[in-house]
Amino acid sequence: MLYQAPRGTSDILPQEQAYWRYLEQMVARTARLYGYERLDAPTFEDTKLFARSVGEDTDIVTKEMYTFEDRGGSSITLRPEGTAPVCRAYLEHGMKNLPQPVKLYYIASIFRYERPQAGRYRQHYQFGYEAIGGDGDPALDSEVIDMAWRFFSSVKLRRLSLQLNSIGCKKCRPGYVAALKSHYASRTGELCPDCRSRLERNPLRLLDCKNEACLKIAASAPKSVDHLCPECAEHFKQLKRYLELLGLPFVVNNQLVRGLDYYTRTVFEIQPEGGGAQSTLAGGGRYDDLIEELGGKPTPALGFAAGMERIILNLKKQKIEAPPLPRPQVFIAYIGVAAKAEAVKLAADLRRGDIGVIAALGDKSLKAQLRQANNLGVSYAVIIGEEELKSGTVIVRDMTSAEQKSVPAGKLQGELAQIDK
Ligand code: HAM
Repeated sequence: MLYQAPRGTSDILPQEQAYWRYLEQMVARTARLYGYERLDAPTFEDTKLFARSVGEDTDIVTKEMYTFEDRGGSSITLRPEGTAPVCRAYLEHGMKNLPQPVKLYYIASIFRYERPQAGRYRQHYQFGYEAIGGDGDPALDSEVIDMAWRFFSSVKLRRLSLQLNSIGCKKCRPGYVAALKSHYASRTGELCPDCRSRLERNPLRLLDCKNEACLKIAASAPKSVDHLCPECAEHFKQLKRYLELLGLPFVVNNQLVRGLDYYTRTVFEIQPEGGGAQSTLAGGGRYDDLIEELGGKPTPALGFAAGMERIILNLKKQKIEAPPLPRPQVFIAYIGVAAKAEAVKLAADLRRGDIGVIAALGDKSLKAQLRQANNLGVSYAVIIGEEELKSGTVIVRDMTSAEQKSVPAGKLQGELAQIDK
């Protein structure tokens, strides 16, 4: 029996790596432009951390977490998202004593037991940026949204939409939830079974159910923006003003609520035009109560995360290539046992001189060695035979034109350094 990667996971093969390295570079570049530093949290955490932060009634916590008891009897969960671990680290390392907000970013594998399909996996990778602390200034919301939007411009993805909503705070949310429940109360019979149970557990989520009957009822549901307290309303108004100032083409989506419970006020998503929830590229928002919920002092915060597989799917769809990764451009071939020893040494010398080399192995004919060089796509083959050994030279063959020239061995490094860029 041949083993296969577990359902919903995949190998990132060498030919895919250019995309991944490119995204990582662009993530780090964006971090530098906006002043974020990298934090790598562990792959697993205490289960309670996620139950507390993501929310006991969310799909993630009730159905999707990879939770197990370790050999010491502790309940452990593979991270189903990246925000809670960053908040845990902020508290654990006393980062409240640093200049606020503390700006952190991560690139991390994420685990969710979901039904796998295109763009939805059981292990995927996210990068995320979190700004924790400060005074809740809506200018920071606009900066974070600007950062998300610029990231996608920097990788040249086009035809994206920026969706925005405000879902209020713990002061005004209860009033809104009550209005929402009464909207749905007389129509529970029409709702899908999931939404019927959501009505009690997590009524905001009724708004983004994809079931057709539920969509219809959601379309006429009360809007959170009409139930904001004066402070939240002012925050949202200022945020929109800043976004306009920055020229960001946002649309207010009254049904945008996000799948995690920790959000307050601002929520946003970036989606490919015409794509549904499964295609959302990035999502985030404010989570002003989360640090307190995890045992800290009240600390406003916000951030977003983006799914790397989905970004790569879209880059490919839009025929955007990642810069190729550097690979050796020189192949060393030899004829005969004495030349082989020289070839082994030459390969090592060139590498010490920072030139990437693939050396022939075994006892193949020169023809077979050159065929291999051709298949590897190198630019040059260096050939050493008995003649060359005697005269202290090597033959350099241009693999594209098949032109060959004799080069003194001592000059080879200088000659090749030009092409190994
Ligand atoms: P999220 O919306 O659950 O947010 O995930 C962020 C992004 O990860 C999604 O927009 C999507 O691109 C990608 N993603 C999510 N699930 C999958 C999956 N099963 N397969 C492939 N890609 C997926 C969060 O996790 C929040 N922690 C974001 C955040 C950061 N909010 C504030 N700060």
